[in-house]
Amino acid sequence: MLTLENISAHYTTRRGVVQAVDNVSLTVRENEILGIAGESGCGKSTLLKVLYGYVARPLSVVAGTLRAEVPNGNGSRRILGLKEMPKVWWQFISYIPQASQSVLNPVITIESQFFDAITRFHQTGSRAQTRRQVADYLRQLELPVDVLNAYPHQLSGGMRQRVLVALATFLHPRIILADEPTTALDVVVQRGILRMLTRVQREMGNSLVVVSHDLGVHYQITHRLAIMYAGKIVEIGPTEKVFARPLHPYTAALIKSLPRIGDQSQREGIAGAPPSLLNPPKGCRFAARCSQVMAHCREIEPPLVEIEPDHFAACHLHDAGVAGKAGVA
Ligand SMILES: Nc1ncnc2c1ncn2[C@@H]1O[C@H](COP(=O)(O)OP(=O)(O)O)[C@@H](O)[C@H]1O
Ligand SMILES: [Mg+2]
Repeated sequence: MLTLENISAHYTTRRGVVQAVDNVSLTVRENEILGIAGESGCGKSTLLKVLYGYVARPLSVVAGTLRAEVPNGNGSRRILGLKEMPKVWWQFISYIPQASQSVLNPVITIESQFFDAITRFHQTGSRAQTRRQVADYLRQLELPVDVLNAYPHQLSGGMRQRVLVALATFLHPRIILADEPTTALDVVVQRGILRMLTRVQREMGNSLVVVSHDLGVHYQITHRLAIMYAGKIVEIGPTEKVFARPLHPYTAALIKSLPRIGDQSQREGIAGAPPSLLNPPKGCRFAARCSQVMAHCREIEPPLVEIEPDHFAACHLHDAGVAGKAGVA
């Protein structure tokens, strides 16, 4: 429904070119919750911006294509490219950006934010009619309707985030992109937001792409999980398979560093930090931190290949297996 093919997206800065997303291919499937995980600075937010077609300086897409299959409402579909995506914002695809507390305009009420967002791109009925529809929708989502009269600063962080989810989903988009939707919220509030997002996804039967550095979030709600490292997808597959049998040492290390219930021991993070994306190393970008690194890992970049059905990884540890399978076929 939404496909990226060999996308590279760079930020042009005074210090040089930041290769935030490098040769990434990805399909958002119908009716799925797709997670994107990885440490901070790995390119998750940038990838989400590209999926939304929200590409403005200093960001540019330097290679690859985006292809969206947008339903026309009469059973047919039209194909849009990256530059055409803004035409279908809110209606086909919506986006809840990172640190979205600051997205709401502080000087206008929530009702006006809905009204502005909806009418900016789409014709609607009268203001009274829109207000009724928005109020009905808030009720459906079990949000208090009087938030419509409030200004953003009068709401708690959790309530603001719920309002954004309502705003992003009001027009029933086929795809919702959410960037760190629960970061900076306490655990109880987080759970409420995740429940709201998954409920909306289930009821609308649409697709939800969730970016989070928190693997716990992905474990709870995603169907498929992509792990990003230094601008690349290094592993992608069904979430339960990724957790049960991670194929990339980076994924394994991320899972190992997760805190566990009842476990009092201090969990170790992964030693070291991701490489600078101004001048990424050749070969596998994780090589410098990998506990299973081999000599050629520092020279030859491993391609992302299907190791098990629908489960892909980019790691030389699986080279032999792939060669073996190819030999049989
Ligand atoms: N507006 C920007 N200008 C320059 N570099 C940026 C900008 N936004 C992000 N970057 C850089 O791009 C890389 C990827 O960032 P980002 O996509 O935000 O990662 P993540 O969401 O995984 O934390 C990082 O090196 C970050 O510093
Ligand atoms: Mg981010």
